[in-house]
Amino acid sequence: MNTIIDSDIESLLSDNKKFRISGKKFLVTGGAGFLGSWLCDILIAKNAKVHCIDNLSSGRAENIKHLLSNKSFVFKKHDITKTPINLKPDYIFHLASRPSPDDYLNNEIQTIDTNTEGTRKILELTRKTGAKLLFTSTSEVYGEATVFPTPETYYGNVNPSGPRACYDESKRLCESLCMAYYRTYGINLRIVRLFNTYGPRLRGDGTYGRALSRFIWQSINNKNITIWGNGKQTRSFCYITDMINGLMASLLINKTKGETFNLGNPKETRIIDLANTIVDITNSKSKFKYLPMPDNDPRRRIPKITKAKQLIDFKPRVKLDKGLAKTINWQLDSN
Ligand SMILES: NC(=O)c1ccc[n+]([C@@H]2O[C@H](COP(=O)([O-])OP(=O)(O)OC[C@H]3O[C@@H](n4cnc5c(N)ncnc54)[C@H](O)[C@@H]3O)[C@@H](O)[C@H]2O)c1
Repeated sequence: MNTIIDSDIESLLSDNKKFRISGKKFLVTGGAGFLGSWLCDILIAKNAKVHCIDNLSSGRAENIKHLLSNKSFVFKKHDITKTPINLKPDYIFHLASRPSPDDYLNNEIQTIDTNTEGTRKILELTRKTGAKLLFTSTSEVYGEATVFPTPETYYGNVNPSGPRACYDESKRLCESLCMAYYRTYGINLRIVRLFNTYGPRLRGDGTYGRALSRFIWQSINNKNITIWGNGKQTRSFCYITDMINGLMASLLINKTKGETFNLGNPKETRIIDLANTIVDITNSKSKFKYLPMPDNDPRRRIPKITKAKQLIDFKPRVKLDKGLAKTINWQLDSN
């Protein structure tokens, strides 16, 4: 793998000691993606059996290549909107989706299909097998929020026919579908609304690059750093190990059943400050290039995480400068 990822997996192993999952069967949809591949790593490190499904639309075979020789790991290239999956897992992490704005804006219908038809198939599998399911929703269900930090009780301010609707409205429909299955069939389900997460394996290239990873890629390659608007819009960035701890606890602690809650780091950062920090750390010669603000891009995003603290004792620990240094070093190693 890579020394940065190896040492992060070691710390995840120590943080997740209390969960006894050796021999348990996990299905990870979207398992070749950024978050999914980290989940596959920690589950395999804890001697679980992992079935990873991914159509490799935005994920990368490279993220899971090192796991293919492990007998407890099975990868299947499969589109979750197609034929149902014939498996009997104990647990399901359902992550398959296309969450990068540039990518989903170019693939609106596939994005809606994956989120809705795909999630319906995973809910049917959950109903038939009695597995425990975690669905990854997103801060985007809040749209242009007006309450900060944003609590789960905020119902959202979303444009249902705007360009981002293929992602945010279809994730909102996923939440409705999940709760309809929960109320109708009593399935063992939780919905987590993830806020911006970063770390090694977050793609910075092409249409898949999200702001933070794109800035890193542009800085280390001395390319122009592309900033939407004036850069005063904010996001709250959670390092991957904090998010993986949150996802593990959310699925494995049973009192989350039927709950919907935020996961993320509540420290708010302006995009322009993020770009400046990355330029400083990388000692880059890149210049800033300001581009028009995309339609419906939210101006602020900060999670209220009181509910996650109460339910799973969620406490993000990694400070932005430390997480950025690791992510940049990983990107330099993989260049
Ligand atoms: N990373 C974040 O900051 C963030 C924030 C909010 C929500 N999320 C949610 O977390 C989940 C994982 O996000 P990520 O950052 O790892 O993204 P990612 O793009 O790296 O991973 C998603 C994976 O799903 C796969 N996929 C897409 N459509 C599929 C289909 N039809 N069938 C099978 N596989 C398919 C992709 O190939 C990819 O590997 C997503 O559901 C996303 O909406 C992530």
